Amino acid sequence: MLDDNNTVAPAPIKKFLAWYSEAQTGKRGKSSRSYLISSGFGLLRKTLSVTLPWLNLFRPDIATLATVTPDGKPSARSILFKGLVDGGFSFYTDYESDKGKELALNPSAVMLFCWSVPPRQVRIDGKVQKLSREAAKLYWESRTRANQVAFVAVRQSSILSSREEFIEKARQVEQIYRGKPIPCPDSWGGYSLVPEMIEFWEGRVDWLHDREKYILNNEGWARIKLGP
Ligand SMILES: Cc1cc2nc3c(=O)[nH]c(=O)nc-3n(C[C@H](O)[C@H](O)[C@H](O)COP(=O)(O)O)c2cc1C
Repeated sequence: MLDDNNTVAPAPIKKFLAWYSEAQTGKRGKSSRSYLISSGFGLLRKTLSVTLPWLNLFRPDIATLATVTPDGKPSARSILFKGLVDGGFSFYTDYESDKGKELALNPSAVMLFCWSVPPRQVRIDGKVQKLSREAAKLYWESRTRANQVAFVAVRQSSILSSREEFIEKARQVEQIYRGKPIPCPDSWGGYSLVPEMIEFWEGRVDWLHDREKYILNNEGWARIKLGP
């Protein structure tokens, strides 16, 4: 399997890409006993996604991102995974949000995916690097106008006196940029989580779940089997 650079991906990246693709379709490999159940669910998922797309019921791209606060406490929230960039797991955010400030002080982070059908979890531990300004601008331009207005109106993670304040600020932004493109703010940007450890967990009907982790060392990726 090839990664985003069309080079042969290392084993854990290959496995992630296969699982991510299966999480999108709801299907496990054909050899699996749960293939039929998964296929049925895949059909239901496809039907619901087409007939009720706004429900956003099946989003394998939603992940939990955990960072560390300056006083060493865990800090977690959902983000949207935006694909592999140079072997790292990318997402976009406000560099001046709480997570942005935390990552500036300590680049260590964990990205956690949890998919129901097939039942799987992937945990990626590593350090983040900022993506290029060009990438930020490109992604910004792909966002809807409403999304851009909301982002420019208030700083992510800032304290608001009320929802009305947010609505009023959004209205002001709309007025300022009426008929003009909204430029990509300096604080808008992406990160790539460069993996140092990738752990896979897969649920089995007999409760003998599969769990293995890959750790990056000087020789490459070492694989370890673990109890579930
Ligand atoms: C499904 C879902 C997807 C989200 N995706 C993103 C995202 O891609 N980037 C982002 O900055 N915030 C995203 N958010 C909002 C974050 O979870 C969070 O509230 C926000 O980033 C502020 O987090 P912070 O104060 O810890 O920095 C998402 C929320 C949900 C529920």
